[in-house]
Amino acid sequence: MTQASHPSNRRTSISDLTAMTKRGEKWAMITSYEEMTASIFDEAGVPVLLVGDSAGNNFLGEENTIPVTLDEIIMLSRAVVRGSKRAMVVADLPFGSYEKSANLALASGIRLFKEAKVHAVKLEGGKKVIPQIKKLISAGIPVMGHLGLTPQSVHALGGFKVQGRGADAGGILRDAKALERAGVFSIVLELIPAELAAEIASVLEIPVIGIGAGSECDAQVIVWTDLMGMTINPPKFAKAYRNLRSEISQGVSEWIADVSAGIFPSEDQTFH
Ligand code: KIV
Repeated sequence: MTQASHPSNRRTSISDLTAMTKRGEKWAMITSYEEMTASIFDEAGVPVLLVGDSAGNNFLGEENTIPVTLDEIIMLSRAVVRGSKRAMVVADLPFGSYEKSANLALASGIRLFKEAKVHAVKLEGGKKVIPQIKKLISAGIPVMGHLGLTPQSVHALGGFKVQGRGADAGGILRDAKALERAGVFSIVLELIPAELAAEIASVLEIPVIGIGAGSECDAQVIVWTDLMGMTINPPKFAKAYRNLRSEISQGVSEWIADVSAGIFPSEDQTFH
């Protein structure tokens, strides 16, 4: 979605996303974990902000997404909602906040709706989470699915590796169809072969959002710290459009040098 087609006086809705996909317009979703980036991405015209549990390894200093708590996602989501005016804000249900039962998923979804005021939630998994998806949707909470490499199951999957090669492909396609039937409004496909993602995108009516899933998906999602060159070891599927890590580092080094030399603050930053 270009900035021009971004609704100017309201937030992007599910119908906007579905309509764009039906018109063949590819759209973008980006992660955001606090108010400052949320406002920048919102002003740039990104239609969907994802408060991903990738905050674990991209914001909170964790090794992966598993330790992230619901309280943490609520706090981050609240900041992202406050920082944005036009984007739809989707929050991840973190590990431990939905697997045990549909009622637990609903309780977690309700907290995200009431305390952070997000507009939808995302959860990982296929057929096994269908009761959770149905319960959330029946309460009026839109759900985004997530298949392929599901980072909350990284240990069970044996690491961050491409999913859906060979015999596994049919399972991911079946799960995608089952999630669509259960009522999700879109599905993230992470780290799967481009051919499989293209097949799923052509079979499903709802938008399919890729990350490491080739160019044939209806939309793309990216972790903002990968996109902007903040991540030290970015994944192969991410392209850095800027090198903010080095920009920030250089800026801070210049400031330290100016402080040491007594050049900062100058008369411009001084009160009399
Ligand atoms: O947590 C996250 O940022 C995600 C995206 C990578 C899809 O789930």
